[in-house]
Amino acid sequence: MKPSEDAYGRLIAGYLETGEGIEIVERHDGFINANPHGPAAYFFPFRKWPKAERTAMRLARGRVLDVGCGAGRVSLYLQERGHEVVGIDLSPLAAEVSRRRGVKDVRELPVTRVSRRLGLFDTIVMFGNNFGLVGGKPRAPWLLRRFRSITNEGARILAESVDPYKTDNPDHHAYHRRNRRRGRMAGQLRIRIRYGQYTTPWFDYLLASPDEMARLAKGSGWELADVIDEGEHVYVGVLERV
Ligand SMILES: C[S@@+](CC[C@H](N)C(=O)[O-])C[C@H]1O[C@@H](n2cnc3c(N)ncnc32)[C@H](O)[C@@H]1O
Repeated sequence: MKPSEDAYGRLIAGYLETGEGIEIVERHDGFINANPHGPAAYFFPFRKWPKAERTAMRLARGRVLDVGCGAGRVSLYLQERGHEVVGIDLSPLAAEVSRRRGVKDVRELPVTRVSRRLGLFDTIVMFGNNFGLVGGKPRAPWLLRRFRSITNEGARILAESVDPYKTDNPDHHAYHRRNRRRGRMAGQLRIRIRYGQYTTPWFDYLLASPDEMARLAKGSGWELADVIDEGEHVYVGVLERV
């Protein structure tokens, strides 16, 4: 990634330095979302995490892969509990922030490049809605199969997502229809992150309902065994290796 593309990293590093920052997400249809809680939430201590994430942490076991580790809150929590954790992030600056905050093993790596070179894992965590990084079809089944190839028997994915259909916003419903007309999944967002003059490339980020998550997992070596839904904006799907 070119330095000018590391908007996520700038946002996270800026928040580390100043305690301020707003996550600006630009969607391909021109819809812009400014999330003042974005960077702050990536630094939250465990007690301030969404309840679904706290509940899901009870299911983490063994060696853990933290996908898109951001500022490292999940890796740090699990490290403190004695897990061996590898954090990966596409953003060089986010990886650096995680390291500075104490994550012992952080790799600058896009999720699509995970391989057995990282070793084998018992748990894969995709928090901060990072199940979204499966992108949509056809990448999702491909990536889930790839995850299977780097896990041990009995492994789990703790996959956080947002059900895209739980919204009253007409702009979002119109976007779903537009996606479907184009043969994409309704919640398959095409977005980029902006920070000052920094802009990530456009990428697909999937918001999936639990049913959609179950369907994507089926045939990719995983099964949606449980859904941790605490009535918040987000839920965590528990995918078990089959
Ligand atoms: C929404 S933040 C979540 C951070 C962290 N998981 C958390 O919950 O606090 C998304 C993170 O995923 C990283 N990311 C985005 N695309 C990625 C990709 N293709 N591969 C790996 N990491 C990626 C971003 O750089 C950012 O640090």
